[in-house]
Formats: sequence, structure tokens, C-alpha cells
Amino acid sequence: MNFLEERIVKDGIVKEGNVLKVDSFLNHQMDIKLLNQMGAEFKKRFADKNINKILTIEASGIGIACIVAEHFDVPVVFAKKSQSINLDGEMYVAEVESFTHKCKNNVIVSQKFLSEDDHVLIIDDFLANGCALQGLIQIVQSSGATVEGIGIAIEKGFQSGGRIIRNLGFQLESLAIVDGMDASTGQIFFREQDAE
Ligand code: G4P
Ligand code: NA
Ligand code: NA
Repeated sequence: MNFLEERIVKDGIVKEGNVLKVDSFLNHQMDIKLLNQMGAEFKKRFADKNINKILTIEASGIGIACIVAEHFDVPVVFAKKSQSINLDGEMYVAEVESFTHKCKNNVIVSQKFLSEDDHVLIIDDFLANGCALQGLIQIVQSSGATVEGIGIAIEKGFQSGGRIIRNLGFQLESLAIVDGMDASTGQIFFREQDAE
């Protein structure tokens, strides 16, 4: 197990409905030393890419993205979510559907902060169905910028997001891939990945 998998086993809580609570170190309280290790690991996995910007989405992606950005020495842009907006022509907008929350959101980034010169690493805390992530990809592509890679802390490998995004040809690196969970025993099953 790698450092994140070990921490998930130690402090993660399996809830009914295939939900993994990581509130004590990632989603609510944040362990900055752990985030820093994640930043170093992403820097290693994307070492051959010329990344000049990190893109994430509010709210819970922002903390991780900021620490990752320190390792790449680049700025962070976070996409905003909003149910309705006045389109004034200065925003990139993607419509995103949330399976969990059963609603549609617009994901928005100002045109000032993404352009065809940008080489973007997308960062997020969770990947489940990947709707939010596909919205971010769509925004990068509509700006003419390049998606150099995608870094995720925890991927739920039994939901479809990871497979869809890898099939599109993106380099998607998830530090922990959970292939199954058992709420009655609290067991968590990780996908085997190359050792670090
Ligand atoms: P998706 O298509 O973007 O993968 O989203 P999905 O509707 O599956 O998930 C909705 C939200 O729930 C996302 O956060 C996602 O990160 C989070 N999520 C999904 N599965 C789990 C889980 O097992 N544990 C935890 N802790 N979170 C999970 P969000 O509502 O978009 O954003 P945020 O405001 O929390 O960042
Ligand atoms: Na979340
Ligand atoms: Na998130």
C-alpha cells in the first residue's frame, strides 16, 4: 500500500451506499503533510509534462490543488459552480450533472485565466462518475489550452469516471483506486498499482 492507501485504511470510514468518508484528513480537516506528499507524487508522475497551470473545481479540490501547485510552481485556477448564471460572453461554461446530488450545475471559468497558451494539470480530490471532471476537460478544450494530465487523490474504480476518461486517452493518475468497499466490515479494497 502507498501512503494514501495506508491513511485511508487508518482513518477513512466506509458508509452505506458506497461512500467513503475522509473528513478527518482530506475533505473537511486537511492534513497538510499528507497533501504535500501527494503534491510530490503528482510532480513525479507528471515529470515529463510542461505544466504551467493547475485547474480544479470548488470546493474540496482547492486545498489539494494549492499544495500541488506549490510543487509545480504554477498558479491554480478553480472553476466555480453555479446553478444559473448570466452569460456575458467572458466565461467558459460547461453543464455538469451530479449523480449524487441529482442536479445540474454550470461549471464556470473566466476567459481571463485560460487560453491556448496554457498546459493544464487538472486536480481533484475524488473521481466517481467523472461528470465534474468531464466539465473541466470541456472547459480547457474550449479555451484552446492543452490538458497535460489529470491527478486525482481517490478514484472510486467501481464507478465509470476513470474508465471513460482513460478511454479518451488522457493520462489519469489516481493515488488510490478503491475497487470495492464493505460497509458492514469497514473493509476497503484497492486496485494494485505500480509501486512508488
Ligand atoms: P462526479 O460525477 O463528478 O464524479 O460526481 P458525483 O456526482 O459522483 O459526486 C458528487 C460529489 O460527491 C463530488 O463532490 C464528489 O467528489 C463527491 N464524492 C463522490 N463519491 C464520494 C465518496 O465516496 N466520498 C466522498 N467523501 N466524496 C465523494 P462535489 O459535490 O462535486 O464537490 P465538493 O463541493 O465536495 O468539492
Ligand atoms: Na467532494
Ligand atoms: Na471535489
